[in-house]
Amino acid sequence: MIYKTAAVSVASLLRKGLSSNITRTMSSGRYKVYITRSDMPECGVDLLKKQCEVKMWSKASPVPLDEFKKSISGVDAIYCSLTDKINNEILDAAGSDLKVVATISVGYDHIDVAECRKRGIRIGYTPDVLTDATAELTMALLLSTSRRLPEAQHEARTGGWVSWAPTWMTGPGLAGSTVGIVGLGRIGQAIAKRIKSFNPSKILYFNRSEKQEAKEFGAIKVSFDELLAQSDFVICSTALVPETKEMFNKTAFEKMKRTAIFVNTSRGGTVDQNALIEALQNNTIRAAGLDVTTPEPLPLDSPLFKLRNCVVLPHIGSATIETRNTMSELSAKNILAALNGVDMPAELK
Ligand code: GLV
Repeated sequence: MIYKTAAVSVASLLRKGLSSNITRTMSSGRYKVYITRSDMPECGVDLLKKQCEVKMWSKASPVPLDEFKKSISGVDAIYCSLTDKINNEILDAAGSDLKVVATISVGYDHIDVAECRKRGIRIGYTPDVLTDATAELTMALLLSTSRRLPEAQHEARTGGWVSWAPTWMTGPGLAGSTVGIVGLGRIGQAIAKRIKSFNPSKILYFNRSEKQEAKEFGAIKVSFDELLAQSDFVICSTALVPETKEMFNKTAFEKMKRTAIFVNTSRGGTVDQNALIEALQNNTIRAAGLDVTTPEPLPLDSPLFKLRNCVVLPHIGSATIETRNTMSELSAKNILAALNGVDMPAELK
């Protein structure tokens, strides 16, 4: 059980420059942790329950803003997901005891990182542990889109499968193709390794810096425009930051081959979605596979759902059972370490 011992409090309070608060913190018992939904994988929640006073939103859905603000007053830690915006309003509602925000995601575009830093609040996230799962899902989406699996299954179920036919349900193969990956971080590299086994003729990548690891799978660094012009498959695997916001816009889609397939497993915000819809409707590109959209969930009346050349998944990149359990455990360990004033296993630096 973690009590607000002198050692813990001194470490965290000194970091926050609040040493005058030590007495109040020492006397206030177990650390308080708020969890923003009821269905966070249990292994992580149980770890926290053993050592802290845990309160959580009662439903398996994102906590409404008013409820969130009300519930976090005076907490020491928030365990959240990518659907929870952690901004000034939330940090104010939590108050000055808040020491750590841990998100069960590798992406942190929902967190105002600068504001957390200003307030001395540490941030935990879940890199590495979801790399394989997300790369696997990217491959699944790439193949579903190029080989038209949802369409083909629909035809099989609804009588469209009349006989084997030589040109029916055909799509481009990965073998011999040029694949372009935008963002060659951990996940981009894991995607490239998998693609390599499909025998493409070339793997290209666009990234701020040259990646030594690219040699392992023979990927060639090119400009964004070159990648768009040469690739048969364009995969977006970059974090959403101001420089990547809507980088896939009308101009970008017009630079792609008319036969290109676009796949996005990063964030919907990297795409100008109206431009993508137009590109798919006008056959400026062949098809798109999306695990992420704007907004999420994507409204049922979105034109994307009406397009035969678009496969939309509900943001399930990291959704293997094992991965989600590991992510939950890592989130809990991030919180416990931060409350103990020691190194967090995955702190956003
Ligand atoms: C999922 O999108 C994540 O950031 O973990």
